[in-house]
Amino acid sequence: MQRTISPSMLSADFGHLERDTQMIDRSRAEWVHIDVMDGVFVPNISFGFPVMKPIRKSTSKFLDVHLMIVEPEKYVARFVEAGAEMVTFHLEATDCPQKCIDLIRAAGARVGISIKPRTPVESLREWLPKIDLVLIMSVEPGFGGQSYIEGSTEKIAALRRMIDEQNLDVIIEVDGGISARNAGEVFGAGAEVLVAGSAVFKAEDPEAEIIKMLEA
Ligand code: DX5
Ligand code: ZN
Repeated sequence: MQRTISPSMLSADFGHLERDTQMIDRSRAEWVHIDVMDGVFVPNISFGFPVMKPIRKSTSKFLDVHLMIVEPEKYVARFVEAGAEMVTFHLEATDCPQKCIDLIRAAGARVGISIKPRTPVESLREWLPKIDLVLIMSVEPGFGGQSYIEGSTEKIAALRRMIDEQNLDVIIEVDGGISARNAGEVFGAGAEVLVAGSAVFKAEDPEAEIIKMLEA
């Protein structure tokens, strides 16, 4: 299976956004993860459209936008306009997942659905044939730098089985507490894309850290 790292800009230095984005652009990471928080769905606020602009300008890598906002249907199309190539919304954040899917597709991007640690993978079954990616949260969304919740590995494996049984082509991405120490286990359970914030940006050599995760 393919392995991809998606460094999370939430842990970047916002005073040097261009420098940090260019680092990812040079690195072996193929995606850039952008965490949008509204202070309602999660107890934290991050950033929105104006911050996406300089990121989009500084890299040609795949822009992977993770929306931690209520009523994502109101904004998904604008994130595509701002350069998102994958737009992932939370299943818990909307009453109309189908509308979100349709709006993202109509705007021309790929569609992801994310679930929080306590949401069972079974809730994804009906959506799997309609989407490109599932983002499994391995920490409670809202903050970088938390520890990986151990039970996540079993969830990833169960989702992998569900996807394979239905013969679908859905990417599994995992977000929260990922480092070179557990990347091997998480890839091994069936994930293809790992998000890493603090592990990358707090490393002395972020580019080398990305390679370590890919080869874990
Ligand atoms: C948390 C965000 C994550 C976060 C990951 O709500 O969705 O993407 O940036 O940070 P680390 O890798 O430090 O756990
Ligand atoms: Zn995220």
